[in-house]
Amino acid sequence: MNTSRRQFIKQSAVFAIPVIIPAAARGADGTVAPSNRVTVGAVGWGMQGPGNTASTMGLPNAQVVAVCDLDKNHLSDAKRSVDEFYKNTDCAAYADYLELMARKDIDAVTLAVPDHWHALVATAAAKSGKHIWGEKPLARTIAEQQAIVKAVQDNKVIWQTGSWQRSVDNFTKAVELVRSGYIGEIKEVQVGLPSGHSDFAGTRDKTAVTAPPPNLDYEKWVGPSGMVDYIEARVHKNWRWHYNFGGGQLLDWIGHHMDIAHWGLDMDRSGPSSVECQGEFPAPDAIWNTCTRYRGELAYPKGIKMTVAGGHSDIASGTKWIGSEGWVYVDRGAFESSNPEWKRFRVLPDNMRKADIQRSGNHFKNWIDSVLAHRPTITPVETAHRSATPGHLCLISMLTKSKIEWDTTQEVIKNNPAATQLLGRPYRAPYQLG
Ligand SMILES: NC(=O)c1ccc[n+]([C@@H]2O[C@H](COP(=O)([O-])OP(=O)(O)OC[C@H]3O[C@@H](n4cnc5c(N)ncnc54)[C@H](O)[C@@H]3O)[C@@H](O)[C@H]2O)c1
Repeated sequence: MNTSRRQFIKQSAVFAIPVIIPAAARGADGTVAPSNRVTVGAVGWGMQGPGNTASTMGLPNAQVVAVCDLDKNHLSDAKRSVDEFYKNTDCAAYADYLELMARKDIDAVTLAVPDHWHALVATAAAKSGKHIWGEKPLARTIAEQQAIVKAVQDNKVIWQTGSWQRSVDNFTKAVELVRSGYIGEIKEVQVGLPSGHSDFAGTRDKTAVTAPPPNLDYEKWVGPSGMVDYIEARVHKNWRWHYNFGGGQLLDWIGHHMDIAHWGLDMDRSGPSSVECQGEFPAPDAIWNTCTRYRGELAYPKGIKMTVAGGHSDIASGTKWIGSEGWVYVDRGAFESSNPEWKRFRVLPDNMRKADIQRSGNHFKNWIDSVLAHRPTITPVETAHRSATPGHLCLISMLTKSKIEWDTTQEVIKNNPAATQLLGRPYRAPYQLG
């Protein structure tokens, strides 16, 4: 291991020294020598982890050296997959993420664990000085998100959020049009998210209480959440449909389309002053108990009215900004605007760009390049926090059946002590946030 290279990356985290890979550090074939790549550990090998890891391994200046999962089958798949890519048997495999974080020779980690584990794993990573790719939504509660933001800031590590839409031309073009003023003064924003539940794991019918499979450390998988019986339908992939672990479609998607909405508004460090949301819920003891259909009205600075909805046909999936002189709508694979000319552009022509917005064609490259240069990524942790916060507030509004008055600066609920209680959740012993 090239210690001077390791030291550069570590020091850059502390002293913000820009790091440039010297030509001499490159391999003879023009690729970055393995000893000079950013070393990465991948935590969580379920639906998202393998794709994240493949994207990381595809970068010339990153090397995945370790994987971690508390499901033995997932862990062995992870190691096999990484070893196959590098054609060796070098990848280390850990059941316990703390062992991976303790490795001083690992510079960075990609985290793809369920939402109820985000805060503990991410804060441990930051405190170990690892640069972090963390998934959306930032965490399961606002209090957990604040803990992650603090740990990342205190330890000066570089954070990228899995809100990858920011690195796709379609979304960049939409945001550049809005931020350049082409639709005039923004009056209204619509954020359309999915409704219902999606059976990602094909376990919808596995509703019996059974013993956990021997390959899964279920007690640890439940982690800081309340202990509940093992029911396959609410564990791998489909945990997001149970409030003990995730936040349903609203929280699963808020970090994508609200993230784009805020980017277009230039409100990455802001948020709503009031939130009122109504929804339809299964019975609280249902195996999938998250909200299936919802609609929230949010008041934003400058008198902007925002609607967030899932399952309402008047609000299309994606993000739409409506201004005094036109509108822009964007979704995955979709773009429409009041001026049909704008649809023709893949990216906004330079002579039309009137806002200085970071462009990134590759979300993982943006992360690793930012680690090496010690500069903020296109979706830093503060942005992820603000992008998900309106979703958490919508959920709190629905659960308390009340309009939430939110202080965006102090990040407190001004009008409702019962709602304030829901900014965090109790942790099951011995787990502690912080
Ligand atoms: N950016 C995107 O487009 C996108 C898409 C899907 C999922 N995600 C996010 O990725 C995260 C993971 O979702 P998923 O669908 O892959 O979940 P999943 O259930 O499919 O996979 C999670 C994996 O993490 C493992 N795990 C759980 N707790 C762990 C711990 N403490 N230590 C180590 N491993 C642990 C599980 O065993 C499992 O293998 C979520 O936050 C989700 O929102 C993002």
